[in-house]
Amino acid sequence: AGEYEFVVVANRLPVDITVEDDGTLSWERSPGGLVTALAPIMQKNGGAWVGWSGKAGLEHEPFDAEGIHVSPVTLSAQEIAEYYEGFSNGTLWPLYHDVIVPPEFHRNWWNAYVAVNRRFAAAAAEAVAPGGTVWVHDYQLQLVPSVLRLLRPDVKIGFFNHIPFPPVEIFAQLPWRRQVVDGLLGADLVGFQRPGDASNFLRAVRRLTDLQVRGPQVTIPGRWTRPDRQVRAQAFPISIDSTAFDELARTPDVIARAKQIRKELGSPEILLLGVDRLDYTKGIRHRLKAFGELLEDGQLRVPEATLVQVASPSRERVEQYQMLRDEVEVTVGRINGDFGTLGRAAVHYMHHSYPATEMAALYLAADVMLVTSLRDGMNLVAKEYVAARSDLGGALVLSEFTGAADELTQALQINPHDIAGTKATIMRAITMDAREGRRRMRSMRRRVLQHDVQRWADDFLGYLAMSVPSERETV
Ligand code: G6P
Repeated sequence: AGEYEFVVVANRLPVDITVEDDGTLSWERSPGGLVTALAPIMQKNGGAWVGWSGKAGLEHEPFDAEGIHVSPVTLSAQEIAEYYEGFSNGTLWPLYHDVIVPPEFHRNWWNAYVAVNRRFAAAAAEAVAPGGTVWVHDYQLQLVPSVLRLLRPDVKIGFFNHIPFPPVEIFAQLPWRRQVVDGLLGADLVGFQRPGDASNFLRAVRRLTDLQVRGPQVTIPGRWTRPDRQVRAQAFPISIDSTAFDELARTPDVIARAKQIRKELGSPEILLLGVDRLDYTKGIRHRLKAFGELLEDGQLRVPEATLVQVASPSRERVEQYQMLRDEVEVTVGRINGDFGTLGRAAVHYMHHSYPATEMAALYLAADVMLVTSLRDGMNLVAKEYVAARSDLGGALVLSEFTGAADELTQALQINPHDIAGTKATIMRAITMDAREGRRRMRSMRRRVLQHDVQRWADDFLGYLAMSVPSERETV
C-alpha cells in the first residue's frame, strides 16, 4: 500500500510536462476545472494523481507539483494509437455520443484498452493508503474500478463519467459491453452528468447481467465470507470554477480587451460566437449552415453581423476529426466567399486555443453565444459564458442535447438538427428585448454561481464516503 489518502486517476495529468533539450523535465499546471476543484482536497489530505503525460514513451518517476504527487503512466506510440486514438476515441467516443459517426470495433484496440487500464489501476493501487479513496475519471478508464478492487479491496472507489452514457440499444453494439459494465461495477459510486445517463447505465446492468437493481442501487452478491456489496449510480452535473471566471471577466484588462475585439472586427452590430474543441459532436456544421442561410435569406448582413468561431485543435490523428476539419474549413471558405467583403469576413475562424483571459474577453464581447452540440455530456462553454456575463448582457442559444440544458432552462434552447428552428431562435436572441435578456441571464447566473465545480466534487465525494460501509476502512 502507498501513503496517499486520496488518489485521482484520469487519462490526462494535471500538469503539462516539457522535455528540455538536455533531457531534464519541467512542468506547468494545466488549466482546467477538474484540477482546480481537486487541488485543495489533494493539498489538504495528501493526494496523488495518476495519468498520462500526453507524450509517447515518456518515462518518469513520480514527482511533487504544488502539493500534488504526480504519478505518470507511460504509453508507447502503439498504445496511444490503439488505446487513446483507437478504442477511446474511435470506438467509445462516437458510441457514447449517439453514433453521430460510426464507431469502429477492433479487437487489437480493445486489447490495448485492457492492458492500459490495468496499468493505470496498478499505479493507483501502489499510491493509495490503506482504507483510502480513489476517484477514477471518464470513458478512457472504465475497467480501472474492477481491476483496482481486486488489487485493493480495502479502498473506496468512485468513478465519474464526463460524457453521456448511451441508451442500451446503442451500448449493446459494443462487443465488450459486458466487460465494460463489470469494470464500472467495481466502483462503490458511479457518477454521471444527467439522471438520464445514470438510468441508461442501470438499464444496461439489468439487460446485460442478472444482478439485482433496486432504484439507483445494484447489489453484487458476496462470495465466501465477503458480504454483499452495493454500487450506486447517480447524476452529479459537473460545473466550472464560476467565481474565478466571474472575477476574471470583471477585470479592467478583460473588459478593455472585449471592447478592442469588437473594434478589431470592424464594430459589428451583432457579434455571434462559437467556442468548441473541433469535434463532430459539437454541431459546428449545423451552426454554419444556419448562419449561412441567415445571410442568404438576407435576415443577417455582413458587416453588421459576424460570426467568430474558435475551434481548438483536438485528436488530430483520428480520421473522423481530419474529415470534420476539412468540411468545416470548406464551409467557412464558401460562406466567406459568398458573403464577405474586402476586409470584412462573414466568419472569423480560428483553429487555435486561447488562454482564459482571451476567452473571457470574447464571451464579454459576444451578443449571442451559439452552443449547438448534437450530443454533449455537459458543455462547460455554456456555463463559462454565463459566468462571464455579470453585465447581464448577451444571449445564450443552447442545444437541448447538452447536459447543461437540464440546468440552464432560461437559455434559448434549440434542436440543432432543426435548421429552420435554429435560425428562428438565433433571430429571437438578436431581437429579444433587453429586459427579457437580463432576466434570463440573471436566472442562469444564479444557477451557475451556486453550483460550481467545488460543490460538484464535494457532493460526489460526500456520497462516496456515505455509500461505503465503515468496516471496510479497517480491512
Ligand atoms: C472531453 C473528455 C475528456 C478529455 C477532453 C479533451 O472533455 O471528457 O476526458 O480529456 O475531452 O480531449 P483529449 O482527448 O484531448 O483529452
